[in-house]
Amino acid sequence: MRLLVTGGCGFIGSNFIRLVLEEHSEDEVLNLDKLTYAGNPENLRDVEGDPRYSFQQGDICDADDVGKAFAWNPDMVINFAAETHVDRSITSPEDFVKTDVLGTYRLLEQVREMGVRFMQISTDEVYGSISEGSFSEESPLQPNSPYAASKAGADLLVRSYVRTYGIDAVIARSSNNYGPYQYPEKVIPLFVTNLLEGRRVPLYGEGRNIRDWLYVRDNCRGLDLVLRSGQSGEAYNVGAGQEKTNLELTRAILEIMGKGEESIQNVPDRLGHDLRYSVETSKIKALGWSPRMDFESGLQRTVQWYRDHAAWWEPIKSGEFRRYYAEKYGDI
Ligand SMILES: NC(=O)c1ccc[n+]([C@@H]2O[C@H](COP(=O)([O-])OP(=O)(O)OC[C@H]3O[C@@H](n4cnc5c(N)ncnc54)[C@H](O)[C@@H]3O)[C@@H](O)[C@H]2O)c1
Repeated sequence: MRLLVTGGCGFIGSNFIRLVLEEHSEDEVLNLDKLTYAGNPENLRDVEGDPRYSFQQGDICDADDVGKAFAWNPDMVINFAAETHVDRSITSPEDFVKTDVLGTYRLLEQVREMGVRFMQISTDEVYGSISEGSFSEESPLQPNSPYAASKAGADLLVRSYVRTYGIDAVIARSSNNYGPYQYPEKVIPLFVTNLLEGRRVPLYGEGRNIRDWLYVRDNCRGLDLVLRSGQSGEAYNVGAGQEKTNLELTRAILEIMGKGEESIQNVPDRLGHDLRYSVETSKIKALGWSPRMDFESGLQRTVQWYRDHAAWWEPIKSGEFRRYYAEKYGDI
């Protein structure tokens, strides 16, 4: 198989490409990535020399860049490329509408022309918040942040291209991922690296928000299965069923790192902050997937990875990120 992966220099995309190269010895990968602030070629340094891997710097919103990537003749296209940070979508929604909606449209147009299979990497956030129970794939999309709304827009475009033009496409909606190579604006790497730097951790509100934490390798195995076995026109939820409040998550990190509650700095809550995400996963389980990593082991492993890879995250935190962080959190 020839896989065109967009956004492969980001957190999940890079873990996915590594999994594909390890587990499918016949597959070749072309990674199309714009290299925004979140895209980091260091995430794939170890596979750069693999003859089955190639890279094209380009923008999924740009028809020429997309056309060039499709000229490589992929069998399947997997769209990870997106603006992904909810906080940034609150201050700069336009970037999200462009990449997450227009970019997906550009890819779909080429998919329609070339008749290749398409997979949209979506999120559990498209369903909005749920106080009890879990969303199924049939639940209505009720996104609450500009990020979630632009991802929902992309999902609906994919659905419409299946219904209208008969393209072959699947959608995967995953819960919160964690693990190696996650950009340190996201809560787990932010908190772990702050503690490694001797800083405090900025906790939104009272830390009551609940997220379902899915280890990135488990997610990538699920995505790979949906890509190869999912039924066209269908969406598949991917979740670990390991729900934690942000306060529980913070305390678990503090405990692993031998720090006390004095390291917590409460900060004003995010605007429109969804209280709880939860997805029902029987559909992907019927394909033969289940998560392997329990939360405690996954978190231990993740903390250890950031301890061992200061050379990866220190340059990020001292670059563009420093100004972003200072504007947001001051001297925390
Ligand atoms: N991280 C999570 O917990 C999570 C959960 C569910 C779904 N998702 C989805 O998974 C996908 C990947 O998320 P992530 O956390 O790895 O994101 P990320 O922010 O780490 O990486 C995004 C990547 O996309 C690239 N990119 C951005 N705009 C682009 C453009 N216009 N053209 C080409 N490349 C572009 C960036 O350079 C970067 O490499 C996203 O679609 C996201 O919505 C993420």
